[in-house]
Amino acid sequence: MELNPFREEGLGERRVAEPCNIVIFGATGDLTHRKLIPALYNLAVDGDLPTGMNTIGFARREKTDEVFRNGLEESNRKVSRQGHDDALWDQFSQNIHYHQSNFTDLEGYASLKKRLDEIEAAGGSPNRLYYVASAPEFFDDILLHLKSSGLNESKTGWCRAVVEKPFGTDLATATHLNQVVNDTFEEADTYRIDHYLGKETAQNIMVLRFANAIFELLWNNRFIDHVQVTCSEPLGMEGGRGGYYDKAGALRDMVQNHLLQLVSLIAMEPPADLSADGIRDEKVKVLKTLRKYNTVDEVAENVVRAQYTEGTVGGEDVVGYRREDRVDPGSMTESYVALRVLIDNWRWAGVPFYVRMGKRLPKKATEISIHFKEAPKVLFNSLDSDISPGNVLVIRIQPNEGISLGIRSKQPGPAAQLQPVKMDFQYQTAFGKNSPEAYERLLLDAIAGDATLFARKDEVEEAWKFVDLIEDAWHKSNHPPKMAEYQAGSWGPVESDDLLRRDGRTWRRM
Ligand code: BG6
Repeated sequence: MELNPFREEGLGERRVAEPCNIVIFGATGDLTHRKLIPALYNLAVDGDLPTGMNTIGFARREKTDEVFRNGLEESNRKVSRQGHDDALWDQFSQNIHYHQSNFTDLEGYASLKKRLDEIEAAGGSPNRLYYVASAPEFFDDILLHLKSSGLNESKTGWCRAVVEKPFGTDLATATHLNQVVNDTFEEADTYRIDHYLGKETAQNIMVLRFANAIFELLWNNRFIDHVQVTCSEPLGMEGGRGGYYDKAGALRDMVQNHLLQLVSLIAMEPPADLSADGIRDEKVKVLKTLRKYNTVDEVAENVVRAQYTEGTVGGEDVVGYRREDRVDPGSMTESYVALRVLIDNWRWAGVPFYVRMGKRLPKKATEISIHFKEAPKVLFNSLDSDISPGNVLVIRIQPNEGISLGIRSKQPGPAAQLQPVKMDFQYQTAFGKNSPEAYERLLLDAIAGDATLFARKDEVEEAWKFVDLIEDAWHKSNHPPKMAEYQAGSWGPVESDDLLRRDGRTWRRM
C-alpha cells in the first residue's frame, strides 16, 4: 500500500487543503508524540494530507532529525488509530525535521526563517502553520519572536497560528494573550484549539438539531425540563500532571473550555449560515447570557467543588488528591466540580443545565442528556408503577459514540404495564468504522483555513467572565464555600447529589 496522494478531484464534501510547512513549538512534548504526529500520520494514510508538507519540530533539547523521528515512531506505533505500517511511516517521516532552539532565543527564530525561506526557494510551499504547543509560560515569547523575526508573514503564501490550551488562567491573562496573538496574526488566522469541538459527536450536535425537524421543535423551555453534561474520568494525576493541575483545577481545566463549548452547542440558536463566524456568533451569545454568580452565597448555592480521598479505581488502590505527586498537601484545588448553569434567554429561561466533571470517577465517559418534561399524569402516566426515567435524549460524546432516546413502551402481555426502552444509534454499527481523532479533524481544518471548530477570542473571554467569579469566591473571599470530599472510585460528593435533589432531580446513572 502507498500513501494516497492528495485527491484533487472528487473530494465531494472534503475541503481542499493546500500544502504547508508546520512548525510545532514544544515538539518534544507529550502532545506532539501522542496526538499531533499520529493525527498527521493518519491523515496521510487516509489521503487527506496534501503532498509537499514539511513538519518542523522546534524545541529546546539537543536532538538529530533521526533521534526525533525515532521517538515519534515509537509513540505512533502505540497510539495510531489505524495502526502503524513501517513502509508508510518511512515515507511519511522523511518530511519531519528537528530545529533546536530555546523559545526565548532570537537566533533560533532567525535560523528557522532561513530554513523556511530555503524550502520555499527550492519550490516548496510558502504556507506556514505555527503550532504553539509549548508550556504556556512561553506562549508570549514565541508569538512575539515570530513577529519580530518576520515569521508571521510570507510573501506569497499564508501564515496561521494554532494555539493550544490553556488559553489564559483568567480573563485578564486571556485578554492579554489575545492581544499578543492578534498583534502577530489576524484573528482570522488564529486557531485556538478546543479538542472537544473536533470530536465527531460534538460536531453531530448541530446536525442533529438543525438537520432534523423533530428535535428543534421541542428544543426549548416548553418541552425540556433540564439538561445534564457529565464528563467523568478514572485518571488522577499520572505522569507528573499534578504540577499543572493543582494550579488549574477541574473548573479551569475542563469547564471553562470543553464543557461550556458543549453547553453552547446544545443551547445556541440556528446560525445564519454554516460559516465559522456564523456559528461562533451564535455560540458566543449563549456564553454572554450565562447567569453570573456574583456573590459568595450564590456560588455556594450553585456550584460544588470537591477533592477525592483515597479509594479504589478500576480495581487499583489509589491515593487521595492531596497525596498525589506534585500536589500541595494543603491544596484547595478541586478535582471535581458540579454546577447549576442557567441561561438567561428566551429559549432557556427556567431550564437548568447541570454540568459536572471529575477525576478518579468510576469510568471514562462524556455525555450530554436532554431530559424532556413529563407527559401529563393522566391515562398511562396516572398509573402508580414507577416508570422513570421518561424521555431522555442522550448524546454520548465518548466512548461508544452515539445518540439514544429513552421512550416508554408497553410490556407484552395483557396488562398495561409500561417499561422504559431505548432507540439507539451507535456510530460503530451505523458507519462500520471508528471516528477520526479530534486532532485529525482540527489539524486538517487549520491547514485548510476553516476556523469553525476553533474558539474565537470573544468566546474564550466570555467563558472566563463566568468562571472568574466562581474562582474569586473560592480563592479570594474570607468565607469561601466549602471544599467537599468524595472517595476515589465513587460518583462524586453527596453535595453534588444534593445540588440536584434540591431541585427535585437526580444525576443520570451512567
Ligand atoms: C484536557 C484536560 O484538555 O482534556 C485533561 O487538560 C483531560 O485534564 C482531557 O483529561 C480530556 O480529554 P479527552 O479527550 O480524553 O476527554
